[in-house]
Amino acid sequence: MSSLTDTSVTQLPCPTLAQLEAEGAPEEKALFRQLDAVAETRDIHLPLLDELLHLPKGRVVQYLHAKARACTEKVYGDRIFLRALIEISSYCKNDCFYCGIRRSNTTLARYRMEEGTILDCCAEGYAHGMRTFVLQSGEDAWWTDERLCRIVDTLHRRHPDCAITLSLGERSRESYRRLFEAGASRYLLRHETADAAHYARLHPAEMSYEHRMQCLQDLKEIGYQVGCGFMVGSPGQSPQTLWQDLQFIRRFQPHMVGIGPFVATQQTPFAGEPNGSVEDCLRLLSLIRLLHPHVLLPATTALGTLHPFGRELGVLAGANVLMPNVSPVENREKYHIYDNKICLDDGVDHCIDCLERRLQSVGRRMVVDRGDFQV
Ligand code: 5AD
Ligand code: FES
Repeated sequence: MSSLTDTSVTQLPCPTLAQLEAEGAPEEKALFRQLDAVAETRDIHLPLLDELLHLPKGRVVQYLHAKARACTEKVYGDRIFLRALIEISSYCKNDCFYCGIRRSNTTLARYRMEEGTILDCCAEGYAHGMRTFVLQSGEDAWWTDERLCRIVDTLHRRHPDCAITLSLGERSRESYRRLFEAGASRYLLRHETADAAHYARLHPAEMSYEHRMQCLQDLKEIGYQVGCGFMVGSPGQSPQTLWQDLQFIRRFQPHMVGIGPFVATQQTPFAGEPNGSVEDCLRLLSLIRLLHPHVLLPATTALGTLHPFGRELGVLAGANVLMPNVSPVENREKYHIYDNKICLDDGVDHCIDCLERRLQSVGRRMVVDRGDFQV
């Protein structure tokens, strides 16, 4: 169990912009001004990104986080939005090199949730104040449009005050359109990397960068609020590929961006690779906030997996969304995307209490709200 105990993250230094300004040495102040320009122009040059990723922790990084935090507060105040995550199927036809539920992982017991159980999980999320349901799964053809539309339609009628988000991977434009018409209004599909060569390093040849981008484009055109995103520290990633990710976010203007550290996972080709850096992930969260101030930015479970206060640190870096898992506890370990995932044995009650306290420790509160993109 990963409950918050008496150690609090607020013991970490979290100075204000004014304090940093007063204490900064001249060379630090020069970087403060460059960060001001990033916020002003909503753009960043590759050399500055490279420098920020190599800088030791210190006042400049604190300034970056403080600035991103201020930006989040300006748009969303102290409000944190919750998304109820339901992992509806662990079958996947893909074989992504990083992912624990890839089809070649034959050591994993697979499951598909019953329609009634999915609806029950959503109802439980609703009872705990959640007003967005995220139905997530591997790419599983068993979930035909017909089956999915029936669930989406039922959910939509039972909970008309809630948003329905889908995270089901790549599907046809026609399928996306039908699901949208059934009542789904948001779709999460991480782009994984905006560099085609890096994409090929992370995926088998039958998967294509172009198709991924086409799906994202289709989703946007159909009218979904779209979330893209990527892992931080995946094999082959560089400041250059990350810069391309940031440029893609600037161009695409997603409503949400999900990022978390890469977690090396058993039974995948990347099992022996090093984990991504929590510190880099926090810096990127802040930069994404500054480049795209209104974006919905989750402090992800992967962040909480690699650091005991990862999600709090994510919030302090500018995140404003949390995605508690409301799937049946007996399925959780089978949805093994990466190793050491947290909250595997924790029911909704427990996680909500835990998150409430964690948020309080960083001056935020969870709200009962759909948490739409604020225009
Ligand atoms: N570590 C961290 N994140 C991962 N994902 C998949 N495998 C891993 C891993 N080993 C992320 C991918 C995917 C999302 C569902 O989870 O970015 O889009
Ligand atoms: Fe803390 Fe689940 S136990 S969020």
